[in-house]
Amino acid sequence: MGSLDFSSLPKQAEVIEVCPRDGFQNVQVPIPTSEKIAILDALAEAGFKTIEVTSFVGPAVPQMADAAEVMRDFKRKHGAIEAMALVPNVKGAENALSAGADTLNFVLSASESHNRENTRRTVEESLSELAEVCRIKGEKKVHVSVATAFYCPFEGEIAKEAVLKIIERALCLGCGSLSISDTTGTAHPVKVHDTLSAVRREYPRGRVVLHLHDTHGMALANTLTALFLGYDAFDGAVGGLGGCPFAPGAAGNVSTEDLVNFLERLGVKTGVDLPKVLAIARGIPARLGVPLCSHCGQGSWTLLNINESGDKA
Ligand code: COA
Ligand code: ZN
Repeated sequence: MGSLDFSSLPKQAEVIEVCPRDGFQNVQVPIPTSEKIAILDALAEAGFKTIEVTSFVGPAVPQMADAAEVMRDFKRKHGAIEAMALVPNVKGAENALSAGADTLNFVLSASESHNRENTRRTVEESLSELAEVCRIKGEKKVHVSVATAFYCPFEGEIAKEAVLKIIERALCLGCGSLSISDTTGTAHPVKVHDTLSAVRREYPRGRVVLHLHDTHGMALANTLTALFLGYDAFDGAVGGLGGCPFAPGAAGNVSTEDLVNFLERLGVKTGVDLPKVLAIARGIPARLGVPLCSHCGQGSWTLLNINESGDKA
């Protein structure tokens, strides 16, 4: 009979909070800047080393029009936390740099169709633009997010070779930090195992973050698959918010509270304060007018030894 060796899992993992970018971009009504800042202030107290604060994108995503103000406020108050900003092009990178972002999260898709919808560029054009972003970055870091790395809403299944090609080009440009994104939330453990083991085989070094949406409820199963392959960095969005405006049908990110609880129960330390994250998640429906999409947020906190005010019982 087979067995699982849980002692082989990483002893600790990094959880990056992406709700202020991936979550807010998908909220249909404008969120007041002060509300974004208040949520960021609360998140800054919860133990994250990196937070994706906002995105510097075009007028197609009006929710992010206040990106510079949000970034400046965040850096002024929480300078020790790595402030990441998603950028789709050089203009976004320039704006993010002048607002003080620490890390530019350059997004492009493994699928041509999604890249065209999302950034109005071919993959090759985005890669050229990435080269220019690397040229102008100065002392700041460039992280590369490979969107639609498993499935595309327009093309279906994505061959792992498309992901490997982008990683190779990114590494040649000096970007040793990457995200592999299940933008649609349709990946499953077999597909995740196939792509991620190829990534590790071809590129054993470098920081690779897994960015999972939970459309079909497989994000935590995919997380476990990645952990068994040695991956130790994951994005989460408090409250389970999230979604790409150019990936129809996709649900939110795996919620940070479910992710942190899952990792900690497996003995993988995150350094994230679960009661504080739960308290933020609880406030989201009233603050943003969207439902809470997380198991831990809705389920009994007493069973987690956390009392109703969000303190450890
Ligand atoms: N930030 C702010 N404005 C930008 C911009 C950026 N990063 N990139 C382009 N613009 C502006 C241009 O200045 C131009 O403004 P103007 O009409 O006043 O001159 C306008 O947007 C159109 O510029 P263009 O170069 O034609 O861009 P585009 O229309 O081809 O759009 C993107 C390209 C990349 C800006 C747009 O598709 C985009 O923002 N995509 C990201 C979408 C996103 O956030 N997805 C979710 C995250 S994965
Ligand atoms: Zn996403």
